[in-house]
Amino acid sequence: MAKLGVNVDHIATLRQSRGGREPDPVTAAAMAELAGADGITVHLREDRRHIQDRDVMLLRRTVQTHLNLEMAATDEMVAIALKVVPDYVTLVPEKRQELTTEGGLDVVKHQQALARQIELVHQAGIIVSLFIDPDLEQLKASARVKADFVEIHTGTYCDATGKEQAAELDKLEQAIRGGKKLGLGVNAGHGLDYRNIRPVIALGGVEEYNIGHSIISRAVLVGLDRAVREMAQLVHGA
Ligand code: PXP
Repeated sequence: MAKLGVNVDHIATLRQSRGGREPDPVTAAAMAELAGADGITVHLREDRRHIQDRDVMLLRRTVQTHLNLEMAATDEMVAIALKVVPDYVTLVPEKRQELTTEGGLDVVKHQQALARQIELVHQAGIIVSLFIDPDLEQLKASARVKADFVEIHTGTYCDATGKEQAAELDKLEQAIRGGKKLGLGVNAGHGLDYRNIRPVIALGGVEEYNIGHSIISRAVLVGLDRAVREMAQLVHGA
């Protein structure tokens, strides 16, 4: 059975929009676990636009499943990972101006630096995953730098339609099989929602799906009815 890792970054985005204390991603993570999440993912970005260092520290102590820390492959982030010791580190490319992670890591190009950082993270007993596009050369390079897992970037598949989407699904299938042949664990994520995930699940072979946006978006809408009712009761004095 595949696992579900829930990304709670968007809860932190909402908190940061007011610079206050709520909603708290630490509370959201506990609720996600109660509802059946198999893991919690947070992306500590270099500009700290959503998740804060405090969140990562607290989550390390409160997460009951496993904590997956997504981060750029920089010396600053590796130092934080060595201090926090999450269960997993997922290395992602990061550009300051992007709205979300755009595309996978270029492991082929950055092989040497990545191998050095992966070794450091491994020494702390942390499992390392690399977020890559569904591409055989990137898979081979990931195995060469001794990653334990790859997370296959599903974003292009999710954005595509019709024949193009079928072709992208094919690429995902080959990447899943290729990764397994190379001895890598295979996760998948980015852009997955309640509809487009079905054909990916049908491929089999993915150990864990990391999903954020679609779950938090649905939570806002399915929770809105109750939230308004409760405030209306207060205001109306019921
Ligand atoms: N996996 C990685 C590596 C990501 O960067 C993200 C987005 O933060 C996700 C999964 C989750 O993507 P989404 O929010 O589109 O579900």
